[in-house]
Amino acid sequence: MAGEIRKVGVVGLGAMGSGIAQLCVEAGVETVGREVTAELGQKAHDRIAHFLTRKVEKGLLERPTRDAAVARLTLTTDVAELADCDLVIEAIVEELGPKQELFSELERVCRPGAVLATNTSALSVTEIASATSTPERVVGMHFFNPAPLMPLVEIVRAELSSDAAFETAYAFGERLGKHPIRCHDTPGFVVNRVLIPLLNDCVHVLDEARVTVEDLDAGMRHGAGWPMGPCELLDLVGLDVHVHASEALWEKLREPRMAAPPRLVAMANAGLLGRKTGQGFYSY
Ligand code: CAA
Repeated sequence: MAGEIRKVGVVGLGAMGSGIAQLCVEAGVETVGREVTAELGQKAHDRIAHFLTRKVEKGLLERPTRDAAVARLTLTTDVAELADCDLVIEAIVEELGPKQELFSELERVCRPGAVLATNTSALSVTEIASATSTPERVVGMHFFNPAPLMPLVEIVRAELSSDAAFETAYAFGERLGKHPIRCHDTPGFVVNRVLIPLLNDCVHVLDEARVTVEDLDAGMRHGAGWPMGPCELLDLVGLDVHVHASEALWEKLREPRMAAPPRLVAMANAGLLGRKTGQGFYSY
């Protein structure tokens, strides 16, 4: 039986967390967003308010509906303020240590029945859950970038997830207007298991076929029906995020195609991370 979700916490309000919080308030759910500083929280709030205003301007949303959605978001820097949430979705840095620390804290502060979900894209949900003494309430809810626009959410069953937590997360994904799919906790789950090596292949092709970035993107858009080219997509996801996810998959699967191409690693090390730094394969 899926539990009822009246209040949601979102921890980490970066690109993914703010997108997830936007979805929650648009779906009519009281949402508490937690960031490490009030400034970062405010930045996420402004970003959400901006995208909802754009929807009003484009006639996709009524102004009072937009205002009510924005008013459903409260901000905090204190994890303890998530105590009465029915579901908490974590979207902090993609590193096991900080995630485990957070889940152990969430277990202490949240009510016993609350479902604890991670938006990790390439780490093991089971390993994150192992930092708690109630791993049955931990699941994966993996959204895609940009979360408000991409229809998919992967609902990930870790080794010890309960049916109740899993189905609660699935039902909540539907309530957000997403297309949820059920899967098990394997490296990269479904989409990244396929997409990460594919994007790495695309970067290798840049050198092998001596094709330009623009032509490679045009090739995959016009020849394979991709909505955006692989280099545009890497710039959107963030080269640091992609390299990190590649490394996590390479560590688990030891397949050469999972390893980040040296060209990408060099770009990431140089701070050419894509849209968020204004320069990646393209300038923004
Ligand atoms: N959050 C909220 N709203 C946003 C947004 C965001 N991040 N980005 C854009 N919008 C809103 C804007 O208001 C925008 O309208 P305006 O520009 O008029 O303000 C509106 O959405 C429409 O945006 P676009 O015109 O850019 O939309 P589009 O039709 O060109 O589609 C797209 C954009 C959905 C991103 C499409 O190009 C696409 O599907 N690209 C592929 C993306 C993809 O593959 N994502 C998966 C990445 S992999 C991943 O996420 C996994 C992982 O773990 C790393």
